[in-house]
Amino acid sequence: MTQSRVHTVLQRIYAADMPELADVEEILRIEAQDELGVLFGFADDVRREYVGDAVLLRGIIEFSNVCRNTCMYCGLNRHNVRLTRYRLTREEILATAANIKQAGVKTVVLQSGEEDNLDSRWLRQVIEDIKKEFDMAVTLSVGERRREDYESWRQAGADRYLLKIETSDPDLYRELHPGMSFENRIGCLRDLVELGYQTGSGNIVGLKGQTTRSLAGDVRFFKQGNFDMISVSPFIPHPQTALADEPAADLTMTLKMTALTRIVSRNAHIPATTAIGSLHGRDERPRALAVGANVLMPNFTPAPYRRYYEIYPNKRCVSEDPRACPDCLEQMAATIGRRVDYGRGDSLKRVGCAPHTFSN
Ligand code: SAM
Ligand code: FES
Repeated sequence: MTQSRVHTVLQRIYAADMPELADVEEILRIEAQDELGVLFGFADDVRREYVGDAVLLRGIIEFSNVCRNTCMYCGLNRHNVRLTRYRLTREEILATAANIKQAGVKTVVLQSGEEDNLDSRWLRQVIEDIKKEFDMAVTLSVGERRREDYESWRQAGADRYLLKIETSDPDLYRELHPGMSFENRIGCLRDLVELGYQTGSGNIVGLKGQTTRSLAGDVRFFKQGNFDMISVSPFIPHPQTALADEPAADLTMTLKMTALTRIVSRNAHIPATTAIGSLHGRDERPRALAVGANVLMPNFTPAPYRRYYEIYPNKRCVSEDPRACPDCLEQMAATIGRRVDYGRGDSLKRVGCAPHTFSN
C-alpha cells in the first residue's frame, strides 16, 4: 500500500458512521514503517484536535483479587489456586483514597475481581465515604453485577464504570470465558449506560484465536458503543492459566489498535495501559500516548497487596512508592511534549453526542 492509499482509507474510516470491516482490516495489516507513520500521525492529529495535549491521571486501587470468573487469560481467574487472595477493608481503601487525593489526582478507580460475596451495601458505603470525605470522581471496575447494584452505586455517587468486552467476537468470547455469557456482558454495558455512568469498555489484543477480522470488529464495536472511555491492552501470558504457553501480543498491533480506536472514537478517554507498560519488560506507554492515548493510571494499591493482583506477570510499578508516580508520569508526558492535567477529566461525550447503541 502507498502512503497516500493509507491516508485515503483512514479518511474513509474517520468520516464513516460505521467503518467498513475491509478498510479497518486493511489498516491492521500494514507493516511498512512509512505506512505506520501515516496511521500514527493521523491518530495523533485526531487526539490533539479532540482531547488536546493534556494527559489525565486516574489513581487505581485494586481492592480485591477474589474472583468467580473463568477468563482463560487472567491470572486472577478462579482456577488459579496458587494465588493468595485478599480484600482490603473499608479503612484501608479510604486511607489509600487519601493518598490519591494528596498526590493531586482527582479520580479513584476501584477495581477488583468479580466476587460472589462482594456485599453491594458495603461498596455503596465505601463510595459514599469517598465522595463525602474527598470529593473525587469515582470509577468502578468490579465486573458483571445485577442492575440493582449498579443503580445503588450510581445513587451513592459513582461517576464512571469500566467493563471491557475483551473481544467483540461472540464465538471467541465463548471460547475464552467458559460458562460466562457474552449477552450478559452486553446487557451490563447497556444497564450502565442507561443508569448514566460514564461508561468504558475495551479489548485485549493478541488473544489466542483472535483474527484481524475480530480486531476490526472490536473497532466497529467501539464506534457503535460511543463509549466515554476505551482501553486497549496487549495480552500478556500468565503461567498459571490455560494460555500460559501462548505468545504475548505484538506491540505494533497493539499500537495500531490504539490508533484506530482514537480515530473512530475521536474524543473518548484512552489510557496508555499498564499492560502496554509491562509488555516485553519495556515501558512503551509513551508510544501509546503518541498514537492516540491520553490517560495514565498510577497504581496506589497498598504495597503488601499489590503483588497479589497478578493479572499477568512482571506488571510495571509493583514495587515503587505510589507517591512518586505523579512526578514520574509528568516526566513521561514531558518526553513527548505533553503535560499532566490534574483535573477530574470527565467524559467529553456528554454534550451533543449520539447515544450509545449496541446490536446484541
Ligand atoms: N473483574 C473486573 C472485570 O472483569 O471487568 C475488573 C478486573 S480485570 C482483572 C481487569 C482487566 O484485566 C480485564 O478487563 C482484562 O482486559 C485485563 N486482563 C486480564 N488478564 C490479562 C492478561 N493476561 N493480559 C492483558 N490484560 C489482561
Ligand atoms: Fe476475574 Fe480476571 S478472571 S478478574
